[in-house]
Amino acid sequence: MSQATNSVKISASILASDFGYLAAAVESAEQAGVDRIHVDVMDGHFVPNISIGTPVVASLRKVTTLPLETHLMIEDPIRYLELFRTAGSDSVLVHVESESNLESTIQTAKELELGVGVVINPATPVDAVATVIDQVDQILVMTVDPGFGGQSLIPETISKVGLLRELIDTAGVQCELSVDGGITAETAPEACAAGANVLVAGSAIFRSSAGVAPAVAALLAADPKLG
Ligand code: DX5
Ligand code: ZN
Repeated sequence: MSQATNSVKISASILASDFGYLAAAVESAEQAGVDRIHVDVMDGHFVPNISIGTPVVASLRKVTTLPLETHLMIEDPIRYLELFRTAGSDSVLVHVESESNLESTIQTAKELELGVGVVINPATPVDAVATVIDQVDQILVMTVDPGFGGQSLIPETISKVGLLRELIDTAGVQCELSVDGGITAETAPEACAAGANVLVAGSAIFRSSAGVAPAVAALLAADPKLG
């Protein structure tokens, strides 16, 4: 059972929004009470898809005061940290599987006064990040293979959330534990029960037929503190 004490936070992934109306999507998410905006950057190498980069972050910076967290699904993320900082990112999420040296990347992000989180793919064991939980603001468990929105959560990833919750609580560090991919009102309770305290969601927010505000409320209902 989770020992997480913080209530659940929502990070809205704009990948699922209509980019022709991006400002409106972000505004609706902000009004619905999300905690941050999640920006998925893909380079066509680290993942097989290409998405967006610094110009979009710069435009988003002008339309929201919410924290902008930038999920770098790119090779050699260390090369781009300063560019994203300049564009307006508040924090970066870097993959342990990418080419850059992890410790150097974390250090560089801190020097740039960026928040920093480390991401692990579904196939990567938790050992890969165990040594950095005291150095980062966030560990993000990919609950789908990165590269595309709208996929179904891979159930086997939830046990990694539980293992990381134990590691974080045992170490007594203030490290958020996030999940990203296939997070819906149906899957969020399981992720939260395992110990996640940040839910990244795209399709469940921006493609909800009920609308953005009810969709965010449905995700927040997964908070074990409400149960
Ligand atoms: C996937 C991205 C996710 C994605 C989640 O590679 O990292 O942030 O936008 O999308 P949904 O919530 O639709 O699974
Ligand atoms: Zn993401």
